[in-house]
Amino acid sequence: MIRRKLLGVFILSCALGLSAQEKKSFTIDISHPTGNISPNMWGVFFEDINLGADGGIYAELIKNRSFEFADPFMGWKKLGEKIGEGTFLVLNRKDKPNNPRFLRVNTSLSSEKVGLQNEGFRGMGIKQGLRYDFSVLYKQAVPGITLRLQLVDTLGSVIGESTLRPEKTGTDWQKQQISFRAAKTEPKAKLVLWFEGKGTLDVDMISLFPEDTWKNRPGGLRKDMVQLLADMKPGFIRFPGGCIVEGRDLANRFQWKKTVGPIEDRKLIINRWNTEFKHRLTPDYYQSFGLGFFEYFQLAEDIGAEPLPILNCGMACQFNTAELVPIDELDEYVQDALDLIEFANGDTGTKWGKLRAEMGHPLPFNLKMLGVGNENWGPQYIERLEVFKKALNERYPNIKIVASSGTDPEGERFEFLNKELRRLKVDFIDEHYYRSPDWFLTHANRYDAYDRQGPKIFAGEYAAHTDRTAGTGNRNNWKAAIAEAAFLTGVERNADVVGMASYAPLFAHVDGWQWTPDLIWVDNLQAYGTPNYQVQKLYAINKGTHVISVRMDNVIPSGQDGLYASAVLDSKTNEAIIKVVNHNDYPINGSFNIQTKENLAKEVEHIVLTAGLAEENSIQHPNKVSPKIDKVTLKGKTIISDLSPYSFHIFKIKIK
Ligand code: AHR
Repeated sequence: MIRRKLLGVFILSCALGLSAQEKKSFTIDISHPTGNISPNMWGVFFEDINLGADGGIYAELIKNRSFEFADPFMGWKKLGEKIGEGTFLVLNRKDKPNNPRFLRVNTSLSSEKVGLQNEGFRGMGIKQGLRYDFSVLYKQAVPGITLRLQLVDTLGSVIGESTLRPEKTGTDWQKQQISFRAAKTEPKAKLVLWFEGKGTLDVDMISLFPEDTWKNRPGGLRKDMVQLLADMKPGFIRFPGGCIVEGRDLANRFQWKKTVGPIEDRKLIINRWNTEFKHRLTPDYYQSFGLGFFEYFQLAEDIGAEPLPILNCGMACQFNTAELVPIDELDEYVQDALDLIEFANGDTGTKWGKLRAEMGHPLPFNLKMLGVGNENWGPQYIERLEVFKKALNERYPNIKIVASSGTDPEGERFEFLNKELRRLKVDFIDEHYYRSPDWFLTHANRYDAYDRQGPKIFAGEYAAHTDRTAGTGNRNNWKAAIAEAAFLTGVERNADVVGMASYAPLFAHVDGWQWTPDLIWVDNLQAYGTPNYQVQKLYAINKGTHVISVRMDNVIPSGQDGLYASAVLDSKTNEAIIKVVNHNDYPINGSFNIQTKENLAKEVEHIVLTAGLAEENSIQHPNKVSPKIDKVTLKGKTIISDLSPYSFHIFKIKIK
């Protein structure tokens, strides 16, 4: 009878959720910081992958604006009932080797009206009421042709139009611009150009930009995408990649000098992600370099991030052609690195400093670090790195050198490079890990025993992959994001050795991606941060200045009983900030005892990020998985708080 009663009480208390909750107690010692946190600890990794630049953050709406794609008419459609022979001719001139092609339009050769339609990058995102700036380079002997511009929606209805009458004549190229407003919002608009009147007109660099670019810069960047970066308060921005630095072959490597100066003189090349994955072929993916090295530096400055350019070290992607530059021919590559430092920091009297000033930035960009090679490996890499290091150290001893530890965070290749890079005393070892959520959960202690004397670590590319690396099934869900949150407690705890960290890749277009998962997804009109973005952002905006110790039953909480924790002190805001992850499918009752003689404010800010493991954000529900903020009250110097299943918590305690 008594047994039955007890059973009844147990069932009832379970039903009411009154079952005894597992309790865990943490001790945080705020009086003895264990390491400094670099101000640029948490940053972003930018690469033109997944339509990250062209078709993404670079706000140009016209695809193949200079007819330089392998197929000069890719992205363009000729319009007209009877297009006469020779009406549209692609000419290739000698005097513009970086942009040889232009289009000659001769309307006299057609009996009916002719035009061109540009499809944009998976359409053009157009916003009602917004101003659009159309421009074109043209040349004509005599006036004859007028351009009628029409933005059309998916049904072909005109949603914005204007007319541009080329005014100047002669043999020189002229630029003319006209602006107009859109009457309707349309995510997949196209631009139609009707060539009206009889005559011959040469055109090139046909361009359309929205007015609402970041900082309203003409020909600038997509504001919503930059804003998401700025909101993370990133400490650095790594650019331009990634494998794009290496290129499939050396001819198609990233060469920064070809990305600066007037945009019509920047040499377009095929984007390596155009052909990389057979299952995600993207034949219309090119690099126009409208977002070039000047713009990368400017972006870094705008969002308060240290610039971290990565340069080719004389090796093409070792997954592709693996072409090598002979060691005795490395000069050009090394010179590119030296010249880049002059471009960023040099006096305006120097060749490259002068160009920077002419482009609108006389003051230096204050470059402090440079990466030599991306995901390169083997003795061939070390040989080349040594040549770069010698030249860079001699000329610019204060520039820190970031070197690659290959593609994997363990294994023979990694071990070899790790040893060699320490021998060479590089400043940062760039580690990459694209691994399963389980790997992240079981490696939160990766850096606890790392060498404190040698180079710092740059966790340069990481992401939890729920399916398989380079597969199409990886999801930006909470399962991946909470595993990263757990792992990052270990990165934060070891901030004295891990100096920088960034998730990769950064951007993906919902209609044009090659790689998943990615930190931020966009369509033509909107952008949203994934749960992974929310995690990185929470770390970045709560980074603190000093590491302090957290113990759970006298041990570092790095996965025991599914719990992870780290803590920092912020000497600027006078706060202690605790981060804790409960990776259990049941709640934990946490008590956090703050050891200090200081007085603490009673009210503690509590930020929680939690969701079902399969939950994701989306264009329709951009904030489904996003942080919630509430307050908890200190009991003495202890926080008592329930940690719900699969949750990431931040407690911010004011020190009075
Ligand atoms: O982030 C995507 C790719 O992953 C990068 O280009 C490369 O460095 C890594 O293999």
